[in-house]
Amino acid sequence: PLPLIIDTDPGADDVIALLLALSARDKLDVRALTTVAGNVQLNKTSRNARMVREWANRPDVPVYAGSPRPMLRTPIYAAEVHGAEGVTGVQVFEPKQPLAKGHAVQYLIETLLAAPPQSMTVVTLGPQTNLAMALIENPGIRQGIKEVVMMGGAHFNGGNITPAAEFNVFADPHASDVVFKSSLPITVIPLDVTHKMLTSPERIAGLRNIGNKAGKTAADILDAYVAHDIKQYGLPGGPVHDATTIGYLLRPEMFKGRMVNVEVDTREGPTFGATVVDYYHSSKRPENARWITDGDTQGFFDLLTAQLAKLP
Ligand code: BDR
Ligand code: CA
Repeated sequence: PLPLIIDTDPGADDVIALLLALSARDKLDVRALTTVAGNVQLNKTSRNARMVREWANRPDVPVYAGSPRPMLRTPIYAAEVHGAEGVTGVQVFEPKQPLAKGHAVQYLIETLLAAPPQSMTVVTLGPQTNLAMALIENPGIRQGIKEVVMMGGAHFNGGNITPAAEFNVFADPHASDVVFKSSLPITVIPLDVTHKMLTSPERIAGLRNIGNKAGKTAADILDAYVAHDIKQYGLPGGPVHDATTIGYLLRPEMFKGRMVNVEVDTREGPTFGATVVDYYHSSKRPENARWITDGDTQGFFDLLTAQLAKLP
């Protein structure tokens, strides 16, 4: 199985992503969840990550709390989308198993320095503060990283939090700037693809009809979560951004993209936090990321449904 660390800010779609990842023991060796402030404050994202661990019955996966705020900018949250507690549609509770001791940034540094060369996949599902801080504190961690797979950014149809910017990058543009300049192999799952891979009432019913706790939880979350996006963006269904990223890890052949140069706009102004994607190679800047634009929507929801059936 692919060894990976998932950095996350749960977050309704983060919860679906984590359930999907934790269900795939044969393919994904999830070494830890690291948490960051993003959709809601750090104490809530950390509690929510621990809730998912309990739902998935995976006490073997440690949860490390990380950065409580972005590197430079004023913190922003997305409670209007994800609910005040960060997971709309379900009742939150205090999980039994505590956080692991130590800071997520320190965990990343120690683990990636000790890892065999280019062996670890680092998945980021929220603002990239933890990974950027680790890269700054010790650039040597790059040796242990095989690939960074991130949900974030937007190109063809603009952003979701501003006309130009996607939430994760806008919430900490300086961090994403560090990541894109790291010369690590990066795959980006931007809004360009997640806004094409939408829920439908039938797809949510399919999850509910699994008949287990994970399927019901995912369906309850999605019923509440997609309502916001359907209304605001006029989409026929709701995107499940972060879970799409895990879908890519499990079945990369279901996705299409191309190598591009990506720069993050870190200047204050109307395009603050935008990902500037050189899709047609007009800048001659070197390629630094694979930008995913298309995926097999029904294939993804079939996979999600089959996988969640493996959980309690
Ligand atoms: C991203 O922003 C967050 O609100 C979601 O969890 C996802 O990671 C989508 O723009
Ligand atoms: Ca997220």
